[in-house]
Amino acid sequence: MFPFKTSIQFDRQCNQALYLQLSNQIIQLIKNQTLAPHTKLPGSRTLAEQLNVHRKTIVACYDELLLQGWVESIPKKGTFVHPNLPVLQEQKLEGCKAFDLKKDTGFSFYKNSILPEKPKKNNKSLIYLNDGVSDGRLTPIDEIARTYRRVCSKKNVFDHLSYGSVYGNDTLRDVLVEYLNTTRGLHITKENVLITRGSQMGIWLSSQLLLQKDDIVVVGNTNYGAADATFLNQHAKLERVMVDEHGLSTRAIENLCKRQQIKAVYVTSHHHHPTTVTLCAERRMRLLNLAKQYNFAIIEDDYDYDFNYNHAPILPLASHDTNGNVVYIGSVCKTVAPVFRIGYLIASKEFVDEASKLRGYVDRQGDALLELTFADFIKSGDLDRHIRKVMKIYKQRRDLFCKLLKDQLGDFFEFEIPKGGMAVWTKLNPMYSWDHFSEVARTYNLKIGDWKQYDSANLGHNCIRIGFAAHNEAEIFELINRLKKTIGEIKNSETAR
Ligand SMILES: Cc1ncc(COP(=O)(O)O)c(C=O)c1O
Repeated sequence: MFPFKTSIQFDRQCNQALYLQLSNQIIQLIKNQTLAPHTKLPGSRTLAEQLNVHRKTIVACYDELLLQGWVESIPKKGTFVHPNLPVLQEQKLEGCKAFDLKKDTGFSFYKNSILPEKPKKNNKSLIYLNDGVSDGRLTPIDEIARTYRRVCSKKNVFDHLSYGSVYGNDTLRDVLVEYLNTTRGLHITKENVLITRGSQMGIWLSSQLLLQKDDIVVVGNTNYGAADATFLNQHAKLERVMVDEHGLSTRAIENLCKRQQIKAVYVTSHHHHPTTVTLCAERRMRLLNLAKQYNFAIIEDDYDYDFNYNHAPILPLASHDTNGNVVYIGSVCKTVAPVFRIGYLIASKEFVDEASKLRGYVDRQGDALLELTFADFIKSGDLDRHIRKVMKIYKQRRDLFCKLLKDQLGDFFEFEIPKGGMAVWTKLNPMYSWDHFSEVARTYNLKIGDWKQYDSANLGHNCIRIGFAAHNEAEIFELINRLKKTIGEIKNSETAR
């Protein structure tokens, strides 16, 4: 008889019921064939005595095993390990390496090497340079939590717990129509709105609908890396055009259009990513005219519309679009916090209908409760109050960071003070390389990150984005301090040579 008494162990501190602990261990014994098919299990009274548990625990365990099909019960004979279980291959054979699910996969699958892996940020003593993100400590988490609670305590909350619309929550769509028409000068109705889980989903959906193999999408000669990757993943061809202080060169786009059919232009018109420059009015109008004339889409990624320090926000291209060429994309992920995956794709009804269908393949619907929370958050004016509050703080941080960078490290870094956004486009003195800089910075607990992402076209501009918004005053001083120490060491090693 199998020695259950010594083989079974209960953890009486653990929350799992004893009968489940027992059934899981018996399943394990069956799977590794310690208990072979046809083996008779002890009667419930006997096993209860052996294991020092109540008989009901054994009965519940056998019921569970029966229900899951691991054992069968033969009247007047007892409970037996099921005779027809497929034999699982031994996992730890003598001489074979142990199977490790963390690493090993038992089938082949297609890996994607286009989208770079994001580094993990888990060392508290390091300062990580970021691309321009908000400061989580300023997120109005209490207000959002209160609003979420209020949404959940409403009588009609049950209506939102089931499968809902693939376009996203209706109330949020209504609220966004009013909000975007007022703040962005759009002229949309609900049919033009698809709620997404952030801007990236909007970029992906647009890319899926607009691009197939070898279709041409125009991007800047520096561009947001994840957008590039999304288009390349569609096997589209990227045509890069120059970006100067006025944004994407529309002349270069026009020249391209004369030579070949282009399907789309991706533009971060408000603050070009990564350089932070604003697309000037003349080029905005020219781009819209070109889109109409040459029949292409403009994917307008307005990822940081809300943060302008020197002037009122510039209305997006979408607000001047009279021909349905613009697919306008935005989210609250930069404005409030990246964790809240609430964004929108605004386009013609026809495009939105198709994008919604497509979204259904990967995401049956959004998070209706969170969407209702944000509908309330926007409608009540809380979002605008939050923006006004953080704008002041981010402006101070921008000013402090730029002043220190100029005053203390002006010989090494060149930059324009950004008019908006959350990052400074910073050029390292061409005598030095970011490669070497990153290596030395590590010794001062400063992590530069993937600086190469900013120069996928190999222009050799020696610039990276340095985010300032997420660091408070003391952290900005410390960041500058570490940059200084890094430079100091690089200079010292030069003189020693
Ligand atoms: C230019 C640009 N577009 C889109 C995104 C993605 O934003 P979201 O978090 O809304 O998906 C980012 C995020 O960093 C970005 O910088």
